[in-house]
Amino acid sequence: MIAAAVARRLDLDLGRIAGGTFSCRFLGDLRGSFADRERYEEALARGNPLIYSVSTLESAAGDGDLSYGLGVLMPGKIGREYFLTKGHLHAWREAAEVYVGLRGHGLMLLEDEQSGESKLLPLSANEIVYVPGHTAHRTINIGTVPLVYLGVYPANAGHDYGAIGERNFRNVVIEEASSPALRDRMKL
Ligand code: F6R
Ligand code: MN
Repeated sequence: MIAAAVARRLDLDLGRIAGGTFSCRFLGDLRGSFADRERYEEALARGNPLIYSVSTLESAAGDGDLSYGLGVLMPGKIGREYFLTKGHLHAWREAAEVYVGLRGHGLMLLEDEQSGESKLLPLSANEIVYVPGHTAHRTINIGTVPLVYLGVYPANAGHDYGAIGERNFRNVVIEEASSPALRDRMKL
């Protein structure tokens, strides 16, 4: 039976997958995500812009099935730190994910939950990033246009924002001499 098979249209301008659910994160939803808290509060006092949206098709079919989401992350910075997603681990830690860059210029910050090792990988149009299990992941827009990407992950992966919400990633990506640089959060 091919009941669950679908061919969907991606609207990269609107950031929508036909039939998907749409959710938005505004600046005010990202308290604690940016390193420079003073600059964050200053920016929030000026307005509460959209930072990113995700259009998601989630499957309820369970083991073996896949879900996917189309993300659109706006360009911009808080202080020297580029706009970013909250970032998460999968609740089912073994769950891996594949990201495909569709538009714009971005990076993915990966952090191994067990060793703490970080990796910064390019996620621009036509690039793929494989996120292994047990790895916190965050998307970062280092360009001047919206970064558009598709993430495909096991339907039963689940999203755990708790650990990152409490301690954040060890490293931050900031602009230095007009280029992105990976820096230790504790040594900024
Ligand atoms: C799904 C996934 C992406 C993110 C999206 C938004 O597992 O990794 O679809 O959900 O990039 O980021 P978060 O979920 O961290 O707010
Ligand atoms: Mn994920």
